[in-house]
Amino acid sequence: MDDGLEDGTVTVDTVIRNGKVVSPSSTVEADVAIGGDVVVAVTAPGVLPEAAAEIDASGCYVLPGAVDSHVHFREPGYEHKEDWETGTAAAACGGTTTVFEMPNTDPPTGSVEALRLKQELAAAQAHVDYGIYGLLDENNIDDLESLIEAGVSGFKCFMGNTFGDLPAPSDGAMLEGFEILARHGYRCTVHAENASIMARRQQRMEAAGRSDALAHLAARPEICAVEAVGRAVAFAEWTGARLHIAHKSSADALYILRDAKARGVDVTVETCPQYLLLDTRDVERLGGVLRVNPPIREPGHGEALWQALHDGVIDMIATDHAPHQPYEKSDSNIWRCDCGFPGVETQMPIMLTQVNAGRLDINQYVRWSAAAPALAWGCYPRKGVIQSGSDADIAIVDMGRGGIIDREAIHSKSKMTPWHGFETTATIVRTMVRGRTVMENGRLVGERGWGRPVPQSMPEPRPRNENKTMDAIVRKPPGF
Ligand code: DOR
Ligand code: ZN
Repeated sequence: MDDGLEDGTVTVDTVIRNGKVVSPSSTVEADVAIGGDVVVAVTAPGVLPEAAAEIDASGCYVLPGAVDSHVHFREPGYEHKEDWETGTAAAACGGTTTVFEMPNTDPPTGSVEALRLKQELAAAQAHVDYGIYGLLDENNIDDLESLIEAGVSGFKCFMGNTFGDLPAPSDGAMLEGFEILARHGYRCTVHAENASIMARRQQRMEAAGRSDALAHLAARPEICAVEAVGRAVAFAEWTGARLHIAHKSSADALYILRDAKARGVDVTVETCPQYLLLDTRDVERLGGVLRVNPPIREPGHGEALWQALHDGVIDMIATDHAPHQPYEKSDSNIWRCDCGFPGVETQMPIMLTQVNAGRLDINQYVRWSAAAPALAWGCYPRKGVIQSGSDADIAIVDMGRGGIIDREAIHSKSKMTPWHGFETTATIVRTMVRGRTVMENGRLVGERGWGRPVPQSMPEPRPRNENKTMDAIVRKPPGF
């Protein structure tokens, strides 16, 4: 418990009373005082004076808003699937208060010009705070530093093909990119699947006439992830670049990450509700709706991922919110269905339902959904925790009120969710972003443009093998 109301000079606009305030290490009955954008005090119940806005959280838990390290909001270029307004409205309605948005838009976010365009679109429309990923690809290695200067939150490298058909960079370009990011302390998220194995398998399977839903999985066996995770870890360890493994979906490759962490490699790992809770039986039931990269796997992988979360090998829960329209996901030929589905609005109710089912406790939930991603992206404790000085990003949840997920009720433009009909046992009753209520009782009440870029401060860079980088051998040869 802390107290930011030292000398009466702090103004309090809003008080949240009678709730249970949750952090990664505690759940306490406490009141929360908010002044402007930030939390100014978390106190014992009943001691705060009346504020202009009083929120009664009786019977509810008060959680830090989720920080989602992996969303695709599609704009610019694919606005029929999603835009910044609808994507961030979905986030707000799902208790997510900060998102990190991926660069496979059109144009991809691989140049300063493309970044500026996306920054303007986001600033005008966002309901929640955000970071924007830059792309690391074959042809933009010379742009990485200007992207950093222009304000990207981190980078994304598509080692394997997915929506947007951005070609995987060569190993040479990827390593050179990592050398540059290492110098700046930036983190690179990788889509870790081996492009060559998957392309060859898909081609052979299509030629052989296989186009059923499970063909997609057969084209992307676990070895694709084992190889790509291993390669990404090797490059990160050699260069000192910070690494983030997107959407871990299989038991295989976890041993590589466990070992890398034990050696001190700065690698963080996310998984998503779909990999924890769904398997090939759901793929058979749902077909193209569940086509996603990496694929949903056979029963058993989910258990291993839960275990890895509990062991600390997986650090966080993200969503890979990847909206598409029905006509883009309904072809009987699986190869003609776009990959991915929306998830940013359903993550919290689904995962809190798992809390009620005893698969994790609520403190672990806020660690994995809020504190850990905020830490990985250099915005903790501004984000990811409710304490004096933090941004007042809050989800108030009723752990005793359930519902049924209805695709027509979600705020994404994409209604193609595999969670339609899923029974939840918890409900988000209010979401606040920097002190302002953006969702109340399921209704979006925020104002577009309220969301802001999240300030980040990554730890000191720790580059390694600097005398062997491209920069050392080409740009600054000895004697110059
Ligand atoms: O299934 C996916 N869809 N996986 C990804 O990694 C990208 C995403 C998208 O952008 O649609
Ligand atoms: Zn993604």
